[in-house]
Amino acid sequence: MPLTRLVVQQFRNIKACDIQLSTGFNFIIGPNGSGKTSLLEAIYMLGHGRSFKSSLTSRVIQNECPELFIHGRFLNSDQFELPIGINKQRNGSTEVKIGGQSGQKLAQLAQVLPLQLIHPEGFDLLTDGPKHRRAFIDWGVFHSEVGFYEAWGRFKRLNKQRNALLKNALGYREMQYWDRQLAQLAEQIDSWRRAYVAQMQPLAEEMCQAFLPEFEIKLGYYRGWDKDTSYDALLEKNFERDQSLGYTFSGPNKADLRIKVNNTPVEDVLSRGQLKLMMCALRLAQGQHLAQLTGKQSIYLIDDFASELDSQRRKRLADYLKQTKAQVFVSSITESQVVDMIDENGKMFHVEHGTIEQG
Ligand SMILES: Nc1ncnc2c1ncn2[C@@H]1O[C@H](COP(=O)(O)OP(=O)(O)OP(=O)(O)O)[C@@H](O)[C@H]1O
Ligand SMILES: [Mg+2]
Repeated sequence: MPLTRLVVQQFRNIKACDIQLSTGFNFIIGPNGSGKTSLLEAIYMLGHGRSFKSSLTSRVIQNECPELFIHGRFLNSDQFELPIGINKQRNGSTEVKIGGQSGQKLAQLAQVLPLQLIHPEGFDLLTDGPKHRRAFIDWGVFHSEVGFYEAWGRFKRLNKQRNALLKNALGYREMQYWDRQLAQLAEQIDSWRRAYVAQMQPLAEEMCQAFLPEFEIKLGYYRGWDKDTSYDALLEKNFERDQSLGYTFSGPNKADLRIKVNNTPVEDVLSRGQLKLMMCALRLAQGQHLAQLTGKQSIYLIDDFASELDSQRRKRLADYLKQTKAQVFVSSITESQVVDMIDENGKMFHVEHGTIEQG
């Protein structure tokens, strides 16, 4: 659901900006350190309630300012414009307002503004541990299964309680009551994730193939424990091992999206440019799958579009992004790097020392 207006105040080096946006392409152009990533980070915070760069709010709030504001207007599914906003203070308090109603939850921001972020540090989706790929799966499940957010939160809380209990339990019987509840949640979460991966996998593999035709790319879902054992039985079987470790070793908190290129782990095969293309393919596929499933269009945030890509690959990515008809924010140092994307609906913004001007 696209943003039509964006107001950012006291966010990193952006003192105050108020811009009318295109529902198609928005180009953010400026030299190093001008505030391009900061503007994308502000949009991300409006959709997620947190930054993708810093976990500490105090780093994001403009130096010497007590708070930050990000607000704007978005088009809902009936094409009505509604206000949306977040305010964060140095003391840690956060306020979220959607459609004029205050006291909203961060998860509601995410429901309203599904975002796909493509940025230079985003390779961790492919090269780091399963945490990032689990988050990738869960983004899709969150948007397609209403009960997921609550169930996953409960699972994490129960799992923590179980780990605390494990340390002092004299025998498995003491765990049984908790484990039954935990197992029910684990099986439910697994079945949602499995169904989601199975649904989006053909589109994701097709998109990867289109971006990297020279490779055979296969995705596979791992649920976090072996496929032939129920979670209930697994918890009982592993009780002694878990107890000696001090935590529950296997489970949905170990789930992963396994990606193989020519039957070899991606990071051993792909160059940096190819990794970037693959990350783009996965994010685009996920956004498009959601649009097909629910009619909800994602907003694509692409930081430092040109880095790692040659002109032919840039053009291919630009063509795919245009086909989506989604709202896209693209940052780049020069206009010439985004020339393939410019059309009559696009808007150009120039950034200098945290000041953003259209034109
Ligand atoms: N809390 C803050 N308050 C004020 N300024 C900040 C704060 N945090 C970061 N900055 C500054 O904001 C500026 C903008 O950084 P940003 O990462 O947005 O630049 P950029 O345009 O993306 O540059 P590049 O092309 O190098 O990626 C930097 O000069 C940075 O030092
Ligand atoms: Mg930057």
